Amino acid sequence: MKDLEAQEFKYLRDLICEKTGIFFDDEKKHYLIRRLENRMRTLGCETLLDYYRFLKYDASGKELINLFNVVTTNETYFFRNIPQLMAFKEEVLPLIISRKRRVRDYELKIWSAGCSTGEEPYTLAMLLLEVIPDIYQWKIQILGTDINTQVLERAKKGIYDYRSIREMPSQYTLQYFHFKDKKYFIKEKIKDMVSFAALNLVDTEHMKSVRSIDVIFCRNVLIYFNPESCKKVVNAFYDSLNKGGYLFLGHSESLYRITAIFKLVKFKNSLVYMKE
Ligand SMILES: C[S@@+](CC[C@H](N)C(=O)[O-])C[C@H]1O[C@@H](n2cnc3c(N)ncnc32)[C@H](O)[C@@H]1O
Repeated sequence: MKDLEAQEFKYLRDLICEKTGIFFDDEKKHYLIRRLENRMRTLGCETLLDYYRFLKYDASGKELINLFNVVTTNETYFFRNIPQLMAFKEEVLPLIISRKRRVRDYELKIWSAGCSTGEEPYTLAMLLLEVIPDIYQWKIQILGTDINTQVLERAKKGIYDYRSIREMPSQYTLQYFHFKDKKYFIKEKIKDMVSFAALNLVDTEHMKSVRSIDVIFCRNVLIYFNPESCKKVVNAFYDSLNKGGYLFLGHSESLYRITAIFKLVKFKNSLVYMKE
């Protein structure tokens, strides 16, 4: 019985990895089962194998969306990892902006890949406002994408509790939020700068639709992926970036052993990958 369950777990985790890039190792078995329990109960699946079969043969693809919503980890907050954000604001952005000004190119595209409930792309919007005084003459696009449709709905609403703003310097809370009934409502000015869309990073075809990006933030996403999926995603990022564009990974994440296509640049505040 035990062996059978272990085998069922392997089928399911391989399917999850194929569809999302996220890898659950043997130690995470019970953690994964806990996350799937509700879905299995709703569908009347008694074993992992029942659920695996349901997923595999569900032609509508709808259960996959439910799966994505339960297997992802969505922890995030405003101003996560301030040294990296300072590298973006004080070093990377000025470089890109002055390069673009020289050739009268006033378009800037920033992508938060794996944006969860939106705190990251909204943080980037606040920083852009500080760095580009003539921002209204620019065509700025900040795109937030995620595989989890539930977090994207929350991102679009832009309503947060204290947990999300806990690390944000208070001047930004005062400037860009309304506070009511213990909730922080992001102001329209910031909301209007960001658009959100569902996108699965391991969907190679869909990834090809994202092009001409100047800076990608993909922080605390690839830590959950297996090395093959990481490589696939990072190669797709390379294709999405403009020449001279930058890729920010989480501060504990690295492309060491994954790929050497990016140049690692050491800024005062942080290490950042660049497409030469
Ligand atoms: C821990 S959060 C990180 C949020 C934010 N980038 C940050 O650093 O605070 C990871 C996010 O990656 C998303 N994610 C996981 N696998 C994904 C995939 N294959 N495609 C797109 N997003 C994915 C999850 O849904 C989750 O919202």
